This record gives sequence, C-alpha cells and structure tokens, in this order.
Amino acid sequence: MLGTPPTVAPRPVRSARRSRFTAASADRHLLYQLSVQSVDTEAAFLDRVHRRVVGRRAVSLREDFCGTALLCAEWVRKRPERRATGVDLDPSVLAWGREHNLAPLGDRADRVTLVQADVRAPHRGVHDVIVAFNYSYWIFRTRDELRDYFAGVRRALAPRGLFFCDAYGGTDAMDALQESRRIRGGFTYVWEQARFNPIDHDVLNHIHFEFADGSRMDRAFTYAWRFWTLPELQELLREAGFREVTVYWDRAEREGEESYRPTTRAANQPGWLAYLVAQR
Ligand SMILES: C[S@@+](CC[C@H](N)C(=O)[O-])C[C@H]1O[C@@H](n2cnc3c(N)ncnc32)[C@H](O)[C@@H]1O
Repeated sequence: MLGTPPTVAPRPVRSARRSRFTAASADRHLLYQLSVQSVDTEAAFLDRVHRRVVGRRAVSLREDFCGTALLCAEWVRKRPERRATGVDLDPSVLAWGREHNLAPLGDRADRVTLVQADVRAPHRGVHDVIVAFNYSYWIFRTRDELRDYFAGVRRALAPRGLFFCDAYGGTDAMDALQESRRIRGGFTYVWEQARFNPIDHDVLNHIHFEFADGSRMDRAFTYAWRFWTLPELQELLREAGFREVTVYWDRAEREGEESYRPTTRAANQPGWLAYLVAQR
C-alpha cells in the first residue's frame, strides 16, 4: 500500500555489498511492486469477501489502473478457472507487466487481457469483481467525475458483482510528512506527502527509493490527487447506484498482521488504510 501507516516496523537493511539494488541499476516498477503491493493478500481478500457476500467464488476480475498487472497475474495464477482484465492508459507500464508478470505465467497468461484505455471508456464484458487499488481513482477530482467513474464500474459488474477500492486517512494524512520503510532486498521506500491544500483537498505525494550504497531515486513516482474521505466515497458510491457499501477496517490486534472486517465505528489513528466494498 502506498501510504502505509508509520507504525510499520523497519526491517534490517542488507549491507551495500549484498544488496542487488542501486539507483543506477534498479527498475522502478520492480521497486514499486516490492514496496507497496501485497497481491497474494489482496487476491485472498477479494476471494474471501466475494464468497461471503455473494455465496460463490469470483471468477472474473477487472483491475482498473492495473499498472504492471501484478494483481491480474496473481489472480489467474492461483486458480485455473479465473480470468482477469487489466486496464491502464500507459502502454509502457502494460508492456513491462507483460514481460515481467505475465510471460512467466506461461499458458496461464492466456487468461489475462490487458487493455490500454481510460478506465472510464466503455469496456467489453462484465466481471464478478472490479478493483481500483492504491488510491489510483483519486485522480478524479470532482464529485461528478468520480460518480461517473463509479457508475461505469457498476454497469460493468455482473448482477451480484462487487467493486473494491481503497482509501487512506488518519490524523497525519493531511500533513506534509515523509516516512521510510526498509524493504527486504536492501533498499528503503520513502513515502512523501509533499502538499495538502485544505481548501480543495488537492494533494501531491511522491515515492522515493534509497539504496544501501548511498544512492537515491528521487520522485520515482508522483501522484497529484484529490484527497477523498470515507463519508464522501460511501455517499458517491450510493449515488452511483450501488445498493450496499461497506467499509472494511483493519481490526488486527497484533502489529504486522492485517484483518479487514466490516466496520461502522472506529477510533481514528495517525495513519490508516481501509477498503470500500460496493455491491452492485
Ligand atoms: C498508482 S498506479 C496503480 C498500480 C496498481 N494498480 C497498484 O495497485 O499499485 C496508477 C496507474 O493508473 C494509470 N492511470 C492513470 N489514469 C488513468 C485512467 N484515466 N485510465 C486508466 N489508467 C489510468 C497510470 O498509468 C498508472 O499506471
């Protein structure tokens, strides 16, 4: 997750000699995947919630803003009946995903379709599950734009389909800050909240990477978003026609564990991540 709360314990960084990463040689997409994506946990979460809410396993997934399509790859890798469609505007990131995440799957990659398009364009087919993760949909800056996107998602869902998206917040979320997390393999992920405008919730965030040899990849990724709150998101999903919207909050009791469950009241924290699950 991009904006991981600051409570995550740093793991020991390997020595420069043993680390395979430096700013000159590292691939930013690989660093991103290692730092912010936990697609095994996410795929298991989608499966568990779909079974619980709909009463059967989800087969077809659409991953909006799929980037390198790592979640699509994980989805089809786990079960032979599954299919996935990834949608992203950027042909270069899709090409990276084809080479690094789909090609290693062999024949299983035949069950993944990557579409270079705007997520708001009409897309063929309907899906059991559609996801928009790592806050990518926060590029939509007005209520009308976001509601239109949600309504398009709803139209592309199977009759009992589910839409999943995530959000971050907390008492630190509206502040400028930088937090670092050491990543296994020998580099440090740095999340920077550079700017927060309280007037319109315009935010500017960056990801930087630092390496054990002292080198740094500055602004490897930059995100200019509107910061949306959970009440706004729940209202807009309902206005877009979703009949039920549930917030899944992390109720794990032990640090380092995750357990997202339906929740209506929670204590605020310095930093939190939550999922919204909307039923068509
Ligand atoms: C933060 S990455 C998300 C990667 C991945 N989904 C994840 O969970 O980490 C955001 C992606 O959204 C894509 N993107 C931005 N605007 C888009 C749009 N309107 N339609 C489709 N893709 C878009 C960008 O090209 C980029 O690859």
